[in-house]
Formats: sequence, structure tokens, C-alpha cells
Amino acid sequence: MEIKEIYETMTYGPAPENAGEAIQFLESHNKSFNLFINGKWEAPSSGEYFDSINPSTKEKLAKISDADENDVNKAVAAAKKALPEWIKIGPHQRARYLYALARQIQKHSRLFAVLESMDNGKPIRETRDIDIPIVARHFYHHAGWAQLRDTNLKDYKEIGVIGQIIPWNFPLMMLSWKIAPAIAMGNTIILKPAEFTSLTALLFAEICQQIGLPNGVVNIITGHGKTGAAMVDHKDVNKIAFTGSTEVGKIIRRATAGTGKKLSLELGGKSPFIVFEDADLDSVVEGVVDAIWFNQGQVCCAGSRLLVQESIADKLYKKIRTRMESLRIGNALDKSIDIGAIVAPVQLKVIEELVQLGVDEGSTLWQPSWSCPTEGYFYPPTLFTDVSPSSAIAQEEIFGPVLVAMSFRTHKEAVKLANNTRYGLACSIWTENINLALDIAPQIKAGTAWINCTNVFDAAAGFGGYRESGFGREGGIEGIMEYLKPRIEESFSDKPVTKRTNNSNGSTGQLQPSLGIDRTTKMYIGGKQARPDGGYSMVINSSKGEYIGEVSKGNRKDIRNAVEAAHANTNWANRTGHARAQVLYYLAENLAIRREEFASRIVQMTNQSNADALQEVDLSIERIYTYAALADKYDGKVHHTIHRNVTLAMPESMGVMGIVCPDESPLIGFISTVIPAITMGNNVIVVPSEKLPFSATDFYQILETSDVPAGTVNIITGDKDELAQVLAKHDDVDSIWYFGNKKGCKDIELLSADNMKRTWVNYGKYRNWLDIEQGEGEVFLKHASQIKNIWIPYGA
Ligand code: NAI
Ligand code: MG
Repeated sequence: MEIKEIYETMTYGPAPENAGEAIQFLESHNKSFNLFINGKWEAPSSGEYFDSINPSTKEKLAKISDADENDVNKAVAAAKKALPEWIKIGPHQRARYLYALARQIQKHSRLFAVLESMDNGKPIRETRDIDIPIVARHFYHHAGWAQLRDTNLKDYKEIGVIGQIIPWNFPLMMLSWKIAPAIAMGNTIILKPAEFTSLTALLFAEICQQIGLPNGVVNIITGHGKTGAAMVDHKDVNKIAFTGSTEVGKIIRRATAGTGKKLSLELGGKSPFIVFEDADLDSVVEGVVDAIWFNQGQVCCAGSRLLVQESIADKLYKKIRTRMESLRIGNALDKSIDIGAIVAPVQLKVIEELVQLGVDEGSTLWQPSWSCPTEGYFYPPTLFTDVSPSSAIAQEEIFGPVLVAMSFRTHKEAVKLANNTRYGLACSIWTENINLALDIAPQIKAGTAWINCTNVFDAAAGFGGYRESGFGREGGIEGIMEYLKPRIEESFSDKPVTKRTNNSNGSTGQLQPSLGIDRTTKMYIGGKQARPDGGYSMVINSSKGEYIGEVSKGNRKDIRNAVEAAHANTNWANRTGHARAQVLYYLAENLAIRREEFASRIVQMTNQSNADALQEVDLSIERIYTYAALADKYDGKVHHTIHRNVTLAMPESMGVMGIVCPDESPLIGFISTVIPAITMGNNVIVVPSEKLPFSATDFYQILETSDVPAGTVNIITGDKDELAQVLAKHDDVDSIWYFGNKKGCKDIELLSADNMKRTWVNYGKYRNWLDIEQGEGEVFLKHASQIKNIWIPYGA
């Protein structure tokens, strides 16, 4: 080709990255990798291996061990054995190891980047400039958390042995998000990379050896789903951290139900990329490239649904098509390509099938005129327009370079479309109007909101989902909390506790016998007393067996009505903390006025002494004060992320919560669970103590006289576990708390998997609700809220 011709066509030649050192690494293991257990390389007990391929060329790179249950047992035993010493060496020594890992990764950054691109098919430009720097940053950031562990987080302790299962789309990055916080907090781990991409994890194992990390702190087990399942089922694993498909996330939720294993799940998404008519469209186009063509669109938080204001839709589509035409696709090691290969043939097939479905559904497909290389697994960037919001391609995660576009007219419609998904991982909002952006961001149900940017991550900010995108956060203090447990949990009891432990200065005195007490109570739905749908009542006896009265026996229909009433109430979540605090103080005031009446009810049900009953009422009033105090103080943070932006971590309400109260302590058990939930702006459906329900039903009058909006607190009496299960199965309930026996806890976690509800259960361990340390605190507010990180770039 003549130079002149090159100038005219502007074609590029290949610019391959040198793979020499990566190949040397593979050869140093004879292209056959064993398992990294207890600091040594061990052959898999089955003797089975599988291939890892280079998706850009279909070439085999190496043989990988297929670990089975025996290997998992060995690795867990090694992690368990390493744990006491790893705890004992303390924060500073652990910080030094994390720092050493960060340094060593930096020193070998190009090797990691090249190996990752070969194994996964992602462009070297991305592994070199994004993946690996984020990995090093993660270890640095968490070296810091390790150092601060015993000073800043002394009320918490490590969880123990952690099983970590990661996907193939960001192999080493996901490894760092898992391992760094876990070991920084004093846990030991076994990690299983995804079957398509084990190599950088195995190179990382070598780095652990090089820095002299104590044996057994990090164990790397390779294999398939069944290997992961063996980790999930292992009795000595105290927590599972998983990133991958929502389908497998649900399997893991069900498998761990009732075991008390802590769980964090980072699952799929179908994240909206919302463009308003005043957005800077040229920036938007580059944003779209980053949102859906970064990593071939194999990104859990990919901006895969383009929502455009109608007035600019055609103009934007045209610009996007022009840009698509100039994207370059090819071998991942070519430094001048934009799009690499799809990780594996099975993923390519899924993409092809979903795209065909989109065409069959009548959406308009557009792909660039150029064709993909044929030697690897490639798929061209793809744009669908004329997409109906309910079509499969608008709802299903495609996990490929496929963008589906829809238009909207009003801001309200944009929010509605954006939230029309079962997922809630991220969203991206494009407008030059900051007021509009900050009006929209809180309305989108998603764990991350990027304003005029997309796919930005940093170790200092939490990342994770709402809804079926899973729960738990990775990064920053939010992620750190996933690897710790409150020390106070150690003082919980195996049996229900009703007596106050510490010396009280509570009041004593004589009570008037039952002032105007109701003998048959209704339920409380949408601010009104309601008769039970089934028409049944339940007799309630005192602890001495004397008849006290009857309560309505609620059923499925009553729960459904209550959920509807809770959703209909939009007047609570939107209030400021200050406004909610005022209502809470008012509740406390009205309860104080009827102090004796509530105490005599407690005496009537429990046959406790008057003094104890009065004390329970007084403590309840005090507890409401605590949450009223916190209502405008439990707030967010501005994270120190490394990009030029402010990253606002905002606690938001869960939405509609089910609260299944403890059986013991009829009044304070109700107050301690309901009040923190409403403090954070949730609307709740409460199932009060089954045996001692009257403190809750008497509370209607307090609610009615305290300006609590209709639908904020709904109370359904009846068979506790039956009602709890209806709540757990209900798709429009976002979160459920359950305080009861072990079996009930298991059922709740099991049934909640269907819509990936957040759950908080007590696993048959009991708090003393009368004790301030155990019965109240920020932990309740934490479980009543979820954090959204809003990224706002600065610089014009
Ligand atoms: P996957 O969820 O099956 O795999 C993720 C990890 O889980 C892998 O390490 C796998 O070996 C392991 N695993 C599979 N079954 C398991 C089980 N029963 N118990 C424990 N561990 C198990 O995802 P896969 O099949 O690789 O991809 C399928 C789809 O999942 C993709 O098309 C995409 O939609 C979604 N996905 C989402 C990711 C995300 O970042 N949220 C990452 C990868 C996939
Ligand atoms: Mg591979």
C-alpha cells in the first residue's frame, strides 16, 4: 500500500502487545495448573483438568484443575487452620501484607494485563488502563482498612472462613474486590475463579507466595459450578461472597437459607442509560461506547437500555451509528482495537439467540457495515431501536455488545421506564442540568447512579445492587462491613430473654387495672382499622392461661391489602429526617400520656410485675427518642474516590418492609423493630407477637393521634409464621425482618430468594430487647436502608 493511499483510507495496521512473558508464565507451569491450597500447588484429587482458551484465537492456553469436594474440603481446612494466626498477627502486619500485594501487582502489571486479555478476550487497552490499576488500587485502599481495623472498627470482628466465587468478565478485578477486604479484616479465604478465566487468579497465587503471605490465608480452587456449590455447602465456610448470574445467586440464597452463613450477592443488571434533551450529545456518544461496548458489553452494570428523550432520539441514534461504524474489533492483544472477543462460544450463542429474538419481536436491528474477524469469538456492536419496553431484549440481560433503545417524553416517564426492570444495579443520567440530574438520581432504584459518566469504579465507593441485582456492597466502608460482624452478637442468648439484665433506675408504682382496654381487636391497614378477610379471630390468654381477649386472624388477602396500602403511601419516604423525627417525638409523647394503660396491658398479658411493665413502657419511649434523634443524623458520606468527582453515598429506604416482631417483650419488641424501619422512611407491614399482640393493637390509637401517614405502619395479627411466609413470598415486599425460631428464619430466607428480598433474621439467637446495647442502635438503621452511590464529575 502506498503511503498516499494509507492517508486516504486511514486504515490501521495491527499493533500487537508482546505476549512473551505471559507465555513464559504458562510454560513455567507446563501449561497445566494445579490448585493453590495452603500455600502449595496441589494436583486435583479427581485428576481431572479442563482447558482454558484464548477467545480471540480459539487457541488452548492451558489445562486447569477441576476441583471437587475433596479439594474444597482441603482448602477450607487450610483456611480454617490459618485463621487464628492471621487474626493474632494484628492489623499492622496484615496491612503490610496487603501493601506488599499491591506493590507486587503493580510491578507485574503488564504481565497481568496481557494474561488477562489472552484468557478473557478483553482489549489490552482496558486491562492495562482500567482492570489492573483498579486491582492495585483495591489492595492499597484495603491495606489502609487493615491498618485501621482495631481502632476504627473495634465493635466488629472478623467472620472467619470466607468462600468467594467470581465470574469471568473482570477476573482479576473481581478477585481483588473479594480478597482485599476479606483478608484486611482478618478473615481467610478460598476463592474460585470462573471456569473460563482462571489464569490471572493462579498468577495471583504466585504473587502471594512471592510476598510470603502465610499459608492458607488465600487458597485458589479452580473448577465449575459444582465446585462452587461444594464451597457454598461446606459447614466450615462462614460467609459466601458471590458475583455472577441472578439465577445462580438465587440458588446460593436458597442453599444457605437458615445456616447463618453471611451472604453477599452481586448479580445481573439491565441498567438504564438516560439521556435528556439538554445533554451534551457528543459526550453522550462516548458515554454510550463506555456503557455498552466496554468489555464487549459483558458488564453487570452495563448501560444496556438507552432511554432517550423523544425530541433528540433520532439525532442521537444517528450519531451513535456513525460512531459504531468507526469502532474497531479484533484480537484482544491488539493495542488499537476498541472491542475484543466474547469470552466463550456458549456466551456468543446466548447473544446471537437474544438478538434473533429481538428481530423476531419486531425491533429494528442495526450493525456496522464491516464484518468481524473469523478466527475468534466475535460479535459486532449492535443497536436496537423501536423496542417495546416489555420485549425480551428490553428485560433480559444480554451480556454482550447489544444496546436497546427506547424513547420517553416526560421526566416522569423516564423514571418509570428506568425502573421497569427486576434489576437495580446502576443507572447513568445525562443532562447539563444538575437540578434535573439530582432530582432523577434518587428516584431510580439502583445502587449506583452515574451523572454524565458511566462505568466508573473506585475502591473507596460501595458498589452493589437493589432488587434482583443482589445485596451487599463492595468497596469502601460499605464493602468492609460485609466482612465483619458486630461483637455484640456474641452476647445473644439461645433462648428468648425477657428480663432486664442491668440494674435499672426504672419507675415503680401501682397501676390502674386495664383502663378502657379493648377485648377484640381488628387489624390496621392504610390508617384504618380493618376486619380480617377470613372472618376468624384468635383467643389470647395470659401467661397464666386466663382469657384476655381476641385478635383478628389475618390471612394472605389481608397481607396483600396491607402491602398495597404501604405502596400507595408516598408521603413518608419523601419526608426529610427532621420531619420524620417530629412525628417520632410525637409518638413518644402520646405513648407517655398513656404510659400506665400500656403497662397494665403488659401485666395483663405477661403477669410481670407492675414495675417491670412500667419499665418496658418507659424504655420504649426512650427508644423512640433514640430513633427520633437519629432520624436526621444517620446520614451519608462523600467518598474520597480517585476520579475528579464527588461520590455521594446516600442511605435510602428499602421501600416496603415486612417486620415480624419477636414473641417476647410485647411492647418494646414491637417498638425496637418498627420504629427504626419507619425512621429510615420505609412503609411497613408488621406482624406483632403472636402470643402477646395487644401492645401492638393498642398502638393504633397512638399512630392515629401522632400524624403518622396512612399506610406507613400496617399491622396484621394472627399466625406469625404463616403470615411471615406470605410476606416473604410477596413480590412487592422489598425487605423482611424476622425475629423468631430457627425454622422460621430458614423459611424466610428460602422464600425471599424469589425476588431477592433483603432479609434480616436472628437464626434462633435472642436479644434482650430491654438492654440498650442489644435492643437498639445504628445496626437497625443499616438493615432498614440501602446505600446509593451517586457520582457527580466536576470540571467543565
Ligand atoms: P454463573 O453465575 O453461572 O457463574 C459465575 C460463577 O459462579 C462461576 O465461577 C461459576 O463457576 C459459579 N457457579 C455456577 N453455578 C454455581 C453454583 N450452583 N454454585 C456455586 N457457584 C456456581 O454465570 P455464567 O454461566 O458464567 O454466565 C451466565 C450469565 O450470567 C451471563 O450471560 C450473564 O448474564 C450473567 N453474569 C453476570 C455477571 C455479573 O457480573 N453480574 C458475571 C457473569 C455472568
Ligand atoms: Mg479463557
